[in-house]
Amino acid sequence: MIFGRVKPLDAIIATAEKKSLHRTLGWFQLTLFGIGCVIGTGIFVLTAAGAQKAGPGLMLAFAIAGAICIVAALCYAEIAAMIPVAGSAYTYTYSTMGELLAWTVGWALILEYAVAASAVAVGWSGYFTGTILNQFLGVHLPSWLSAAPLALGGAPGGFINLPAIVIALLITWLLMIGTTESARVNAVLVAIKVTALTAFVALTLPSDYFSTDRFNPFLPAGVFGGFGTGVGAVGAAATIFFAYVGFDAVSTAAEETKDPQRNVPIGLIGSLLFCTVFYILVAAGAIGTIGGQPIMGPNGIPFPAGSEELARECALPQYKDALVCSGEALAHVLRTIGWSGVGNLLGIAAFVALPSVILILMFGQTRIFFVMSRDGLLPERLSTVHPKWKTPHIVTAMTGVGVAFAAAFLPVGQLADIANAGTLYAFAMVAVAVMILRRTAPNQPRSFRTPALWLVGPLTIVGCVFLFFNLPSAAMLVLPVWGAVGLVIYFGYSRGHSHLGRGIVEVHETH
Ligand code: ALA
Repeated sequence: MIFGRVKPLDAIIATAEKKSLHRTLGWFQLTLFGIGCVIGTGIFVLTAAGAQKAGPGLMLAFAIAGAICIVAALCYAEIAAMIPVAGSAYTYTYSTMGELLAWTVGWALILEYAVAASAVAVGWSGYFTGTILNQFLGVHLPSWLSAAPLALGGAPGGFINLPAIVIALLITWLLMIGTTESARVNAVLVAIKVTALTAFVALTLPSDYFSTDRFNPFLPAGVFGGFGTGVGAVGAAATIFFAYVGFDAVSTAAEETKDPQRNVPIGLIGSLLFCTVFYILVAAGAIGTIGGQPIMGPNGIPFPAGSEELARECALPQYKDALVCSGEALAHVLRTIGWSGVGNLLGIAAFVALPSVILILMFGQTRIFFVMSRDGLLPERLSTVHPKWKTPHIVTAMTGVGVAFAAAFLPVGQLADIANAGTLYAFAMVAVAVMILRRTAPNQPRSFRTPALWLVGPLTIVGCVFLFFNLPSAAMLVLPVWGAVGLVIYFGYSRGHSHLGRGIVEVHETH
């Protein structure tokens, strides 16, 4: 039963062929698109959480997470060019491992897209309250309106993150009325983000404040901090993996790409390599100037990022300027070393550019829900398209409320860890699907073939499993609990309503 109800590949490919988009994208546009999806809260905010987990070993963490994403990207590229339809990992799994596992992947993708959107909304809120309200307007939003409750890992006095709710709902509204981001807007936002990060690197690495002494000890929490603790270089890699989430969006543009065999891998790997190098330089600049040693607990293990204990320590005067305590890490570094004006500009860059990452992630989520409901696994009413806006407005509204709710009450680090758990599962399943299709559909045309698949595929799976088991135990637990809820819904509703189960395999246009 587990592998039953495999959706015929031909039907899926026929759907894609109906779309027949023009092949207009070259490697440069793809790379820009990738960078636009990827650079966000991960580097602008989670640098603090990463340093709390690994200290200067954060640089190693960026390299580990980047390497795992590059092998995963190679797998994505083959399957996305072959089955270029909405639904990505969910659809790939449906056509290889059947409906039940596809359902679990679709269900996990809610964590990847919706929870990640919440995380970026909370990251944005940090820059909004810190730079725009505090620095420019002199308004101090009280903690109870700008942070999650302390008991959930927020700040002392925290209750609800109002700015995060507002941005999540605003983006929801934009998506409902049919806003998508044009290539030109994306290019401008990429330029803003890259300029901000370049300025950061240029002002920190050669600065008088920079000292190599700050990299000692390089691995204060070791490489492996211990199972379930989420600390150490690998624990930090599991969290900072979030900084790369979103690159799979490039693979979904495969069918619009000229010469995909050449351009898709350049776009995917180019954007990931670019971000990896950049991230490592940014981490070096931050740690080398103001230091990034973790605040240790009594047992010599760093306090968990986002924990109540850490929040209490951070409230003490001696940690006022600590990198690991900052909610707007990069702007904070620049302000601390005397570049307040540039720090504020960097804050504005994050304020302007992060909403587009939320938009891309929420768009991805609504399309997954849309495809699942079109397949009958979720109520079909959800995929109703609005007569005027031409968008799946019901799923979009539901997604937005969910994203806003999670963003209201959970801190950024925990949201990112939960999103990572779901993403790692989906990435591993994509690698399995690519290998299965090489066996079951060897002659199906592939405009891109993963090089050395029998090495790259297993490496992706091992890498994802490895990172998963280095997440903090609470985030690890979310996946099976979330999966169990999903299975109850599957057996209670979806299995009986599935179109495939009822013998319907018509092809649809994708929206
Ligand atoms: N990679 C994206 C970010 O860091 C999700 O915001």
